[in-house]
Amino acid sequence: MAARRPLIVGNWKMNGLTASLAEATALAGKVQAQAPQAELGLCPPATLVAAMAMTLKGSGIGVGGQDCHARAAGAHTGDIAAEMLKDAGAAYAIVGHSERRADHGESDEAVRAKAQAAHRAGLVAIVCLGETLAQRDAGETLKVVGSQLRGSLPDDANAANTVIAYEPVWAIGTGRTPTLEQVAEVHAAIRQDLKARFDDGAGFRILYGGSVKPDNAKQLMAVADVDGALVGGASLKANDFWPIVEAKGFK
Ligand code: 13P
Repeated sequence: MAARRPLIVGNWKMNGLTASLAEATALAGKVQAQAPQAELGLCPPATLVAAMAMTLKGSGIGVGGQDCHARAAGAHTGDIAAEMLKDAGAAYAIVGHSERRADHGESDEAVRAKAQAAHRAGLVAIVCLGETLAQRDAGETLKVVGSQLRGSLPDDANAANTVIAYEPVWAIGTGRTPTLEQVAEVHAAIRQDLKARFDDGAGFRILYGGSVKPDNAKQLMAVADVDGALVGGASLKANDFWPIVEAKGFK
């Protein structure tokens, strides 16, 4: 099994106007100057996917959507098909982010259908999992994450078309992060489940997300089975994102 190539993805969430494309350009400049080994991606809001894909063409930085609909087309006002993201130049689709699970009531079943749609369109699905604080305090973290993993991954998932992102809900946007031991425990459990279900389970990338910042990235990225990061707030500025890339992107 080839070594897993680190992957650092920025999730801009509902942030970014046309002027923000300058940050993508700045990031591309750093990549060109320093050539990290890690794979990099940026997931801007849907309104910027096509323009960012154009901006980053040839840079080696991939672009992704933050969600996709399960169907390829149809009467679904306001939704975006995975095929449309692909057509706009995307390489990834985040699915099952906890903000979508909470704001839009997305179940594991819905997330699984979205991951399948991403695969159908030729996108890498970044499937998000994570426990709430109440679930962690109740000692249910591994149970919750295990059941999300089972329910959210379609049978056609493999190491090439799927990335897992472990994002504890209570660590997102709060400045709080789990201890390194807690991160290691969850990532090891996810790895074990992937190996049990998929022939190439050892090859899936498992990202950590939730308050990854320039000053904690090195420690978090050094934890076993942490193959990269899914970064929110710190991905909006190239100067904040770059130290996180450096934490995992160079041998
Ligand atoms: P923050 O890095 O802002 O905590 O967000 C994490 C996240 O939800 C990425 O998808």
